Amino acid sequence: MASLIVAGGTPLSGTIRVSGAKNAALPILAASLLSERPVALYDCPRLRDVKNMLAILGALGVRWAWDEEKLLLDTSAANAYVMPQGLSKELRSSIFMLGPLLARFGHAVCTFPGGCEIGHRPIDLHLRGLTMLGVGIREEHGLILCDGHSMTGADIHLDYPSVGATENIMMAAVRAEGETVIQNAAREPEIEDLQTFLRKLGYGVWGAGSSTIRISGGRGCADHMSEGGPAERDCIAHRVIPDRIVAGTLLCAAAITGGEVTLCNAVPAHIASVMAKLRESGCSIRAEGDVIRIAAHARPREIKLIETLPYPGFPTDMQAQFFALCTVADGTSMIVENVFENRFKHGAELLRMGASFTQKDRTIVIRGVERLMGTRVVARDLRGGAALTLAGLAAEGETIVENAELIDRGYERLDKMLASLGAVIRREDAETEEP
Ligand code: EPZ
Repeated sequence: MASLIVAGGTPLSGTIRVSGAKNAALPILAASLLSERPVALYDCPRLRDVKNMLAILGALGVRWAWDEEKLLLDTSAANAYVMPQGLSKELRSSIFMLGPLLARFGHAVCTFPGGCEIGHRPIDLHLRGLTMLGVGIREEHGLILCDGHSMTGADIHLDYPSVGATENIMMAAVRAEGETVIQNAAREPEIEDLQTFLRKLGYGVWGAGSSTIRISGGRGCADHMSEGGPAERDCIAHRVIPDRIVAGTLLCAAAITGGEVTLCNAVPAHIASVMAKLRESGCSIRAEGDVIRIAAHARPREIKLIETLPYPGFPTDMQAQFFALCTVADGTSMIVENVFENRFKHGAELLRMGASFTQKDRTIVIRGVERLMGTRVVARDLRGGAALTLAGLAAEGETIVENAELIDRGYERLDKMLASLGAVIRREDAETEEP
């Protein structure tokens, strides 16, 4: 088991490049099954979740290899559509593999992905959307068996703008005969990146980033669409968009330590809601091109209300980090978690560090304290682990964050990122296993 050992009290300073987005890379890796040509993915982050997704693709016959700057994938030999059970349970978001498997093979089998630490994570919107495309779905013995040998386009309205369900339906619909329209689609930037990738593969997808996405589907539509010259037909190159949650986490780290940090390779427009809340807490933030500069010289001020919402609202994946920030703010802050039903587990650990708050259902009222006290805490989920690490940066004394493997799911060595900005932090692995 790995732990992060953090000595609090050092204001962060310096410049850091934001890595590629986990939540863009994962669906794009799944969509690589829809490419007849090799794929070169630049800025694909080297995370546990990516490693698990590659293991799943490998089990289906996909060949892949990393080199210095990119991940190369060749899906020409992919020959199976039954997802490996253990791996797809470990990576529950792999449920969006159903779409590309159905589009490629006309069939797909996966395990019912259990819930996870932040909620029971239903997949009804995924299955209902696929059913509307004409996919026959049977559930037995914990397996989901899908028959999509004759999918047809449909007009699908999502009850909730689910990110994964939007992605699943997009990827299946490229091979459904006729046009598919997804209404009330998720608008996250990662959906736009998936659309960009699908269009590079030659598929007709429009509207990502808005609530209405159109897909022109049908067998062989990719061949028809990709009229590139011989060189272009060799390999599909794509650079994954920067990770807006990693960027937001680093900005929060600067805010909670009273530091001055510059991010490059960032997309300010993707974290407008996060920057607005940091400004409300008293930080000065300047954004120019792909550079964001934050300066936080005083104790954070209270943030009246943070409500997590689908994009472009405040992202649920930044809730834990702001929870940590508000525990040391001057005043009383409120957070409402509207997206997931069990995403306050980091609260109990922050209490052990001296935080003061009241919880009622999905609402937290936080009374800021002057200083947290370092102690041993346990990460219960990915973003909660990042939040505890940030709390340790501001705490008096030493904080030991256990279960750091959970943090590896979404950050390429968070300790190294923070240490490069002056944080006094190190990682201790019980084993020598790579994250
Ligand atoms: C994606 O998860 C992200 N994961 C999550 O990031 C992120 O928190 C979430 O979107 C919201 O932005 C990836 O992209 C790999 P949803 P996803 O479907 O697709 C309900 C992180 O930390 N719902 O938009 O699973 C669901 O219960 C992770 O990087 C249904 O009811 O999110 C939840 O309340 C955590 N039925 C809400 O929608 C369904 O069929 C949002 O879920 C699907 C979802």
